[in-house]
Amino acid sequence: MCSALFKQGMRRLAASVTVITARDGGEVVGLTATAVCSLCAEPPSLLCCLNRSSRTAQAIVNSRQFAVNILSPNDIEVAGKFATSAAPAEKFAVGEWNVRPGAAPWLSSATAVFECSVSEIIESGTHLVLIGDVTDVRLDAGDSASLLYARGEYGRFINAVMTAAA
Ligand SMILES: Cc1cc2nc3c(=O)[nH]c(=O)nc-3n(C[C@H](O)[C@H](O)[C@H](O)COP(=O)(O)O)c2cc1C
Repeated sequence: MCSALFKQGMRRLAASVTVITARDGGEVVGLTATAVCSLCAEPPSLLCCLNRSSRTAQAIVNSRQFAVNILSPNDIEVAGKFATSAAPAEKFAVGEWNVRPGAAPWLSSATAVFECSVSEIIESGTHLVLIGDVTDVRLDAGDSASLLYARGEYGRFINAVMTAAA
């Protein structure tokens, strides 16, 4: 099976856009991720799939903590910046981030934030499947629309129709 065809098919899987954050010692790190999925409601848990070579994945393996920030359509610039290999200071300069000692940063404009502690890590090819027990959920920004990504473009989800986000 050729990976180009696989990627072509996966481009059609519309997904909610998140930024996953963590602490790397004294520094904060984060990356844009769509491979995030609810796992179980009791106890609350979720999973995400991160490339093991990413700085964020390495930080989560070490710290055993991460936060999943579900982006809103106003956060396209945040999504773009966190999908790059820019230095953390440059990434966290985009958006209003809440940084507390010992915790993963969370984004004020995120439509939901899940704080997690790692319960299991599964290695699979280039990626790690990180299973997180959800320790807190923030819905501070209100019930805004979610930012979506499909076919290489960002969009927003309104009444089951994907429309351009910006
Ligand atoms: C829309 C979109 C979704 C992405 N989803 C994932 C993902 O689910 N897992 C992943 O490991 N990388 C994903 N990436 C790529 C990372 O954001 C990118 O490799 C980032 O530069 C890694 O940053 P870091 O090495 O500083 O942690 C995605 C990129 C984009 C644009």
